[in-house]
Amino acid sequence: MKYESLTKEELKSNLSSEKKRYNSYLKEKLSLDMSRGKPSSEQLDLAAPLFSVLNKDTKFPKGPDYRNYGLLDGIPEMKKLFAELFEIPEEYVFVGGNSSLNLMYDMISDAMLTGVLGSTPWVRLSGKVKFICPVPGYDRHFNICEKLGIEMISVPMNEDGPDMNVVESLVASDPFIKGIWCVPRFSNPGGIVYSEEVVRRLATMKTAAADFRIYYDNSYFVHVLTEDAPKLANIFRIAKEFGTEDRIYMFSSTSKITLAGSGVAMIAASPKNMASIKEKMGWKTIGFNKVWQYAHFLYLESAEHVKSIMREQAALIRPKFDIVLDAFDKAFGDSETVTWNTPKGGYFICLKCMNGTAKEIWTLCKKAGLTITPAGASHPLHFDDSDSYLRIAPTYPSVEDLKKATDVLVTVVKIVTIEKLLEKAN
Ligand SMILES: Cc1ncc(COP(=O)(O)O)c(C=O)c1O
Repeated sequence: MKYESLTKEELKSNLSSEKKRYNSYLKEKLSLDMSRGKPSSEQLDLAAPLFSVLNKDTKFPKGPDYRNYGLLDGIPEMKKLFAELFEIPEEYVFVGGNSSLNLMYDMISDAMLTGVLGSTPWVRLSGKVKFICPVPGYDRHFNICEKLGIEMISVPMNEDGPDMNVVESLVASDPFIKGIWCVPRFSNPGGIVYSEEVVRRLATMKTAAADFRIYYDNSYFVHVLTEDAPKLANIFRIAKEFGTEDRIYMFSSTSKITLAGSGVAMIAASPKNMASIKEKMGWKTIGFNKVWQYAHFLYLESAEHVKSIMREQAALIRPKFDIVLDAFDKAFGDSETVTWNTPKGGYFICLKCMNGTAKEIWTLCKKAGLTITPAGASHPLHFDDSDSYLRIAPTYPSVEDLKKATDVLVTVVKIVTIEKLLEKAN
């Protein structure tokens, strides 16, 4: 329905029927959650072989004993696997603990306290450190900045990545801008894949800060939903050509390939950065869980097998995305003010509602027993000045719950949109 072109009377009549529907949901005392990008139990079940690849007779490879201290940067088998997946040299890979977010936090707090490749520690600079935050973006990235006292500069996302005209002019002129957050393939929440041009511009742009870093969070690198999903250019290859590869820290993990929170995480970086990463990690730990890394290698086997696991994952989650997308299409297909993306991978749908309605939509959903990600979460300091972005995470609920959750959400969006239109008409 094109609500924007309805008469006041038509809007009122629609509002009354949607409110009736909403009141019936209230009576159901629902408890539904599509707030976080978590895999469902069926997805986690796919990783069941992980629990039997190791047993008391397991023979570990010759050389350093994986059951003992050592190999701070991870076992060679997992380094090789990540290197194959990302098409980078093995020596660029550091295999860390269970969480890439943890590694991102570490890399930033290390830079704050001890600098980057010999630069002044960021907390000792005469001005406040700033990061560029493409919006909408990942709330936990922004949280790291907020908690570490880093000022966030929002930059709009285009359909092919951050607006590089804005990014380039900012980083070229301000030496206190030390970093940019990027989720280059299937961004959270917009599902955007950076174009080759954006990747090239990121890799080659002039930066006023010599210790500027790209925090390249490649969490959804292989999380493809459709066969025609766009590929991502290899940023390390481009940067090497231009002598800028030290500016990249790339992060990823198997959280949404194997087990969320019990996978294996990694950082990829140039040889110079890698030497520094190893030194600093060595202050914090004697080594990560290599036994679990080996279990991962035995289960995952090769880049090809990882991709086939991801096809199985996609077969489970694609129908869930379709439920939400079909419902949005039916309800708002010709709306000018309620729009969304159709992701080809990743974990999220970004719903852009009428300006000034997202918080109210969140509140009414909550009252009806549906938790969605809080409005504003995809913006620095939780402040979306348009109050219009909502992140929808369809993977976790069962199909039945998801259908109900989507019905509730659609009803609420209709109610709040119509009320806004009526308010404007008065
Ligand atoms: C963009 C992004 N990065 C990182 C993470 C967390 O990854 P990990 O489990 O490796 O810490 C998530 C989880 O939702 C995410 O969406």
